[in-house]
Amino acid sequence: MRCFIAVDLDADWRRAIARLLPSTRGAGGGPKWVAADSLHVTLWFLGEIADAAVPALSDALAQAAQRVEPFELALAGAGCFPPRDRARVLWLGIEDPAAGCGRWIAAAAPLLAPLGFAPESRPFHAHLTLARSRNPAGDDALRQAADQLRPPAVSTMRVSEITLFESVLGPRGAEYRPLARFGLGGAAGGG
Ligand code: 2AM
Repeated sequence: MRCFIAVDLDADWRRAIARLLPSTRGAGGGPKWVAADSLHVTLWFLGEIADAAVPALSDALAQAAQRVEPFELALAGAGCFPPRDRARVLWLGIEDPAAGCGRWIAAAAPLLAPLGFAPESRPFHAHLTLARSRNPAGDDALRQAADQLRPPAVSTMRVSEITLFESVLGPRGAEYRPLARFGLGGAAGGG
């Protein structure tokens, strides 16, 4: 199964950010917007893993979560990737003043390495993907949308758990299913 680890959104952030998404989601040829239910901040894309690997992975993720205290995230602007030329991704920026995402990745790396998961070689930039280009070469409409987009005025979101998601590819795109949630150190919950 195809898996990734992410910060799921709380109800306030999901409601506020969902208002930015067009109701059509770009059924035609334009950018493909993310469904409100699927909004998340990816921490680590694992890719294809064997079902048999999930228990050891879950143990490692539970341990990593214990090593990081809950933290706060804020929304900070909108932009596109790549920053110039035709855009492939439209994102909302994430401010992480306590560097919680980075500390979680640093805690998880030595626990995931023995299981065969190497961290991305690119530096990590926390972001929340809102839309993707259907055209691999990019789409100017994404940059126009980014220029017009005003991030919602929401308070910070307290992150108290990390979620392991399965990404199931279907006819209408990927559906993200939470497989397990791991409470951060000192936080209730997890599982
Ligand atoms: P993105 O939001 O920046 O597109 C599920 O696909 C999540 O994993 C997405 O949020 C996606 O990031 C992230 N991801 C990171 N690397 C990926 C890859 N090589 N292929 C697919 N998704 C990836």
